[in-house]
Amino acid sequence: MVKKNTCIFISGTGSNLNNLITKSRNYNFPINIKLVICDNRNALGILYAKKNSIPYLFINTKKRNFENIMMLNLRKHKISFICLAGYMKILSKKFLRSFGRKIINIHPSLLPKFKGLNTFSRIIKNEEVKTGCTVHFVNEKLDAGKIITKKSFFINRIDSEDLLKKKTQQLEYLAFPEAIVKIFRHINT
Ligand code: GRF
Repeated sequence: MVKKNTCIFISGTGSNLNNLITKSRNYNFPINIKLVICDNRNALGILYAKKNSIPYLFINTKKRNFENIMMLNLRKHKISFICLAGYMKILSKKFLRSFGRKIINIHPSLLPKFKGLNTFSRIIKNEEVKTGCTVHFVNEKLDAGKIITKKSFFINRIDSEDLLKKKTQQLEYLAFPEAIVKIFRHINT
């Protein structure tokens, strides 16, 4: 199988990155992780890249030309697919257009509900019955691209924000790989 050269963008703990690294070791999983890009020098997730000898880059988004630096590096590593896994910076229209390939994101709610930040506190406040996660294509609008996969669970009345996050992340570890397989299921066939 010819796997897609993939870059994972992170900002934080990188548990989804770690999960995708494990999955990508499988011969039949359609991506190879060739690069990790991070906007936070102290992100714990970088350790997963180091541990697995995957090239990683800290790109300071305070620099005016940071997206140009990203593009150069994506080209250098022949990246044709991007997964945003807890990446907190919004990418510009210009960047999305100039990359011109598929970019996907994982979001901790059942989109279109609860776009943006602080999802868990809003979910509790709103007394939702169900929640979950969504993997979607990235377009120019925040958390609004075409949905690829959603996974849900029923909320317990006593669930705290922390517990909701934990339960949601357990589903993310299933949903993200599943979405990737779905996107590339016709690869080499
Ligand atoms: C995930 O819960 C994802 O839904 C959100 O950011 C979180 C990243 O977690 N976009 P991790 O860094 O993969 O552990």
